[in-house]
Amino acid sequence: VLLAGAALLALSAAASAQTVGFSQIGSESGWRAAETTLTRQQAEERGYTLQFSDAQQRQENQIAALRSFIAQGVDAILIAPVVATGWDSVLQEAQEAEIPVVLLDRQVDSSDDLYLTAVGSDLVHEGEVAGEWLLGEVGEEECRVVELQGTTGSSPAIDRAQGFRNAIEGHANVEIVRSQTGDFTRAGGKSVMESFLQAEGGGENICALYAHNDDMAIGAIQAIKEAGLAPGEDIKIVSIDAVPDIFQAMAAGEANATVELTPNMAGPAFDALEAYWADGTEPEKFIQTESRLYTQADDPAAEYEARKDLGY
Ligand code: AHR
Repeated sequence: VLLAGAALLALSAAASAQTVGFSQIGSESGWRAAETTLTRQQAEERGYTLQFSDAQQRQENQIAALRSFIAQGVDAILIAPVVATGWDSVLQEAQEAEIPVVLLDRQVDSSDDLYLTAVGSDLVHEGEVAGEWLLGEVGEEECRVVELQGTTGSSPAIDRAQGFRNAIEGHANVEIVRSQTGDFTRAGGKSVMESFLQAEGGGENICALYAHNDDMAIGAIQAIKEAGLAPGEDIKIVSIDAVPDIFQAMAAGEANATVELTPNMAGPAFDALEAYWADGTEPEKFIQTESRLYTQADDPAAEYEARKDLGY
């Protein structure tokens, strides 16, 4: 028993001495800020040293960060990849150095042999949920939809666009009339929405906004108000993330629905890494987090209270 206890102590000491490199995209949204906070918290609770690198939305910064983590000989690398393409070489370098890589929240188009696992939601499904919600709202009525897309080339922008189109396919009364990137930011959402409103008769011709994240929806709400329309009523709004501010907007009747994306991607990632470090256990290649739809019927004020201190 004593020996087993000593072995366990040695194992937990080894686990707590781990150094993990984390290449984060940047701080474009409230959701991203929460993911960063939770990753830092999770690392601290588990006794790891976290080497944090902010890429400021640039893939070349992420590649440089990964190379520096490899040179340092970290025990694992987490990366939230800003875009889906262009990762093969650096992932191969990590593999040659025998450093496990875990993808957080976004996908890459490289072979899954090049990373240990990916933690994230079903991004196509999120878009489908948003589209199905809108179909339920409008029934047979004509609905001209404007779409604020996420960062061009990122997996959530590609997949959330696809999912929404999957949902409305075969429903000729619902049509996407304008679509442009707002880069997942509030400022981008506001300025692109301003141009949509101008192009669509001051907003008269728009029935709904589908935004690939809540921050862009919040920026767009501001633009809609400044145009003299009532967001949530004149223009229905559905978006993705479930950040506290969108619940505030929903409680005020200014947004209608959001699909939740958990910011705690690091928890499942570190669980998988611990099993791998302990005895080489290979996790599934995709560890899926839940996606849940919230509407104004779900007590948005209470949802805001529950999330407001979580680091968003
Ligand atoms: O990759 C996840 C997306 O990136 C979130 O939905 C968005 O808010 C973020 O910036």
